[in-house]
Amino acid sequence: MLELRLPKKTPPGAEQADPPGTAAELDPSLAAPAEDAPPAREVVRAHGINFFYGQHQVLFNVEVTAYEREILALIGPSGCGKSTFLRTLNRMNDTIPGARLEGEVLITGQNIYAPGTDVIGLRRRVGMIFQRSNPFPFSIAENVAYGLKVNGLAKKKGEQADVVERCLRATGLWDEVKDRLNKPALALSGGQQQRLCIARALAIEPEILLMDEPASALDPIATGRIEELALELKEKYTIVIVTHNLQQAARISDRTSFFLMGRLVESGRTQAMFTNPQRKETEDYITGRFG
Ligand SMILES: Nc1ncnc2c1ncn2[C@@H]1O[C@H](COP(=O)(O)OP(=O)(O)OP(=O)(O)O)[C@@H](O)[C@H]1O
Ligand SMILES: [Mg+2]
Repeated sequence: MLELRLPKKTPPGAEQADPPGTAAELDPSLAAPAEDAPPAREVVRAHGINFFYGQHQVLFNVEVTAYEREILALIGPSGCGKSTFLRTLNRMNDTIPGARLEGEVLITGQNIYAPGTDVIGLRRRVGMIFQRSNPFPFSIAENVAYGLKVNGLAKKKGEQADVVERCLRATGLWDEVKDRLNKPALALSGGQQQRLCIARALAIEPEILLMDEPASALDPIATGRIEELALELKEKYTIVIVTHNLQQAARISDRTSFFLMGRLVESGRTQAMFTNPQRKETEDYITGRFG
C-alpha cells in the first residue's frame, strides 16, 4: 500500500473538477505562477483526442498539456491507453493498420496531424525511449551515431566522435564505456543499454523525449540512475514518461496525468495530486484500491 497522502487541504481555486478550456483551467495548479516566474511555455498540447484500433475506441476526448522543461508522468491501470496516447505524440501509431485518430496534437503550436507534416522531422524533434531497451547489434559508438546517419545529419569523423562523447556523458555512460566504444552494445548491462538508447535519442537533438516505462525492466539501482538522468535531462528537454510506479512518478515528475479506461481523469502538479486528488477515482488509484 502506498503512503503518498498527506493531510487533506484544498488549495484555493483547485475545486474545479470539470475542465473547460485554457491550460490554467484544465490544470488549476498552473493558474497562479509564483510572482516573477515567467509563464510556462506549452510544448505539447493534445486536444480532443479520440483513438480507435479498428472499431475499438481506446482514447476518449483526451486533453493533455506538457510544458517546457518539465517531466509529465502518465499513470493509470494497465490497458487504460497510456502507451497509445504517448505514441500519438510523435505519430508512432501511424503504421498500425486500421488505427485512427481524431483531434489534434500541437507540438510548439503546430498540429502534427495536419496534412503535409514532415513525420520524419517530427520524430527527430520528439524522441522515444521504450520499455525494453533496443540497442542495435552494432558497437556502442555506432549506436549513438546511428540517428545522425539515418537523419542525414552525418558529420565529419571528428565531429561525430564529439557527438558520441557528449551524448554518452549526458547519460552518465562515458566513464563506464569510453575504453570500449567499438565493442558491441549488446554486451552492456540492461541499465547501461537503456542509457545508451537515451544517448542515441539525444544525438539527434530532440526537444521532447517520450519514455514508455523506461525503467520497468531494471533493478532498483539502474532504475535510480534512469530517474536521476531524467531529472538532469529536464533542464533541457520536455519529458513525458509513462510509469506504473507511483513512487517513481512522485519522485521525478512535476505534473501527472491520470488515465482510466481511455479517459483522462485528472491532471495536476504531482505533489498536489498525490496529496490532495480532486477526483475519487484518482484517490482510489493512488491509495492502491485498484490498478
Ligand atoms: N496494436 C493494437 N491493436 C489493437 N488494440 C491495441 C493495440 N495496442 C493496444 N491496444 C489496446 O488498446 C488499449 C490500450 O492499450 P495501451 O497499450 O495503450 O494501454 P497501457 O495503458 O499502455 O497499458 P499497460 O500499462 O499494460 O502498458 C488496450 O485495450 C489494448 O488492448
Ligand atoms: Mg503501455
